Amino acid sequence: MNDETKKKINARYERELNKGERFWPDSIYKDLIVSLGIFVLLILLATFVGVAAEPKADPSDTSYIPRPEWYFLFLFKFLAIYGQIPVLGKIEWIATVVIPGVAVGLLTLLPFIEKRPDRHYVKRILPISIMIIMVVGIVLLTLTSEVPTVAADGSKLLGVLQSISGLIIPTLAYIALVLMSYIFKSSTRVMIWTTMLASVSMILVSGTVLALHPKPVVEEVEVATTLVDQIVAGQDLYSIHCTECHGDDGSVAVIEGVEGLEGEEITPINSKDVLYTVTDSAMYEVIAYGRPNAGMTPFGKAYGGELSRGEIDYMITYMRYMWDDRFEAPTIKPLFPALADGEVPSYDVHIAPIAKRYCISCHRADKENNNYLMTSYEEILTTGDNAEHNIIAGDETSYLLQVIQEHAIMDPEKPDEELIGVMPPSKALKPNIVDVFVRWIMNGMPQTADEAAALFVAPTPEPTATAAP
Ligand code: HEC
Ligand code: HEC
Repeated sequence: MNDETKKKINARYERELNKGERFWPDSIYKDLIVSLGIFVLLILLATFVGVAAEPKADPSDTSYIPRPEWYFLFLFKFLAIYGQIPVLGKIEWIATVVIPGVAVGLLTLLPFIEKRPDRHYVKRILPISIMIIMVVGIVLLTLTSEVPTVAADGSKLLGVLQSISGLIIPTLAYIALVLMSYIFKSSTRVMIWTTMLASVSMILVSGTVLALHPKPVVEEVEVATTLVDQIVAGQDLYSIHCTECHGDDGSVAVIEGVEGLEGEEITPINSKDVLYTVTDSAMYEVIAYGRPNAGMTPFGKAYGGELSRGEIDYMITYMRYMWDDRFEAPTIKPLFPALADGEVPSYDVHIAPIAKRYCISCHRADKENNNYLMTSYEEILTTGDNAEHNIIAGDETSYLLQVIQEHAIMDPEKPDEELIGVMPPSKALKPNIVDVFVRWIMNGMPQTADEAAALFVAPTPEPTATAAP
């Protein structure tokens, strides 16, 4: 810098200093106001908008894949790509500590390394180029963070492409730029072209990765947020897992129809005896760990069962709100809409929810049930050791109709032995539910609401007079 420029800059600095404001306290004061504003905004957002919670953490769930927040995804991806490098890949601390450390260190030291007074971009082409490539790289790594480096079928193509765009091109570009700047003293134009070429090829390769990556099928995790949703979710889970032994409303005192527990006496779990003495956390333990000695298997994932922590909590919420008189149950939609005179129920609207609530606990795969499955329309009509007798359109002697009306079917070969006991074995159905099954079978088992509506016969008024011929 010659004296001429130095003088000019000093003169300008003087001028700015005299007319401008001071860092302390003027600028600091403005900064404080703005950061206070942002702080208040964040508090308001957190209070009134919030972020939807994920399901409760389940320490026993080994399939959970932890992922960082989105603004760290690029580092996460970088680590994955770096891990593919043959020997270096094993030395993880280089990628987790050294490389980010060097990058942050360079940024911090930049004002001391780069002391040139010029601000015009043409004079600062090296740092600007390095920064551009880094920003493009960070954006691309973030965008491709969903794409695995090794595909499900073992193919490494996407992983290799990601290394090219995230590691090889930027490294080569950096080496080239440094050499151009310090050794070859290349022109600004050449360096700009190099930077553009590197960025565009990184974008193209990452674009190819995104295009080739099959969109993952996102599995929705249902989180019941309102009390009613939780109770409904809990009731469904209870129906499937617990009805078998405890009955649809927890009132069973003697288990029937369950292999190995036939005639077993139990305390009805809807009783005050249980609800008032067993706390929520003890209830959680009973359900998660079961009562293996008494014949109740564990349900918690931690003990080899199939229910997560959240699911067990929903069931407990259901049990409390529906059975425990210290809690007031919110209004919950009835299981099925009530039927008018002459109205025909359908599978979709009536039978499916009833079967789910009262029968599926036993009538699904891997349970003792004469191979009679009830989880779909086809299954209800066609499965079972006695499939041809279970449901016969328009026939009130259909086995199903008899057993739900407390008539056991006797074995034709051994007349004093039951072929099929009453259903559900431990507890009779309520009359309105029996009525739904009767109307459904007597009217030919329509599947959809439309099919059922077509069968609706409005009740004809009793004929008042009969004219004799
Ligand atoms: C295979 C049959 C079976 C199934 C299925 C079953 N239980 Fe049990 N349960 C039992 C038996 C047997 C006992 C012991 C009863 C006793 O000692 O009075 C028991 C006890 C309990 C108790 C403790 C009662 C007390 O006296 O403290 C609770 C609570 C309970 N079960 C809830 C559930 C829930 C909720 C489910 C569904 C996730 C479930 N059970 C599924 C058989 C079963
Ligand atoms: C506690 C378990 C349990 C529940 C709940 C249950 N069942 Fe069953 N069901 C059985 C068992 C076990 C059999 C095998 C016959 C027997 O042991 O009586 C069976 C057999 C049947 C059969 C005869 C199947 C065949 O082809 O032989 C029909 C029909 C039936 N159940 C209907 C129902 C209906 C409808 C419901 C719901 C309202 C229901 N069951 C609920 C345990 C259950």
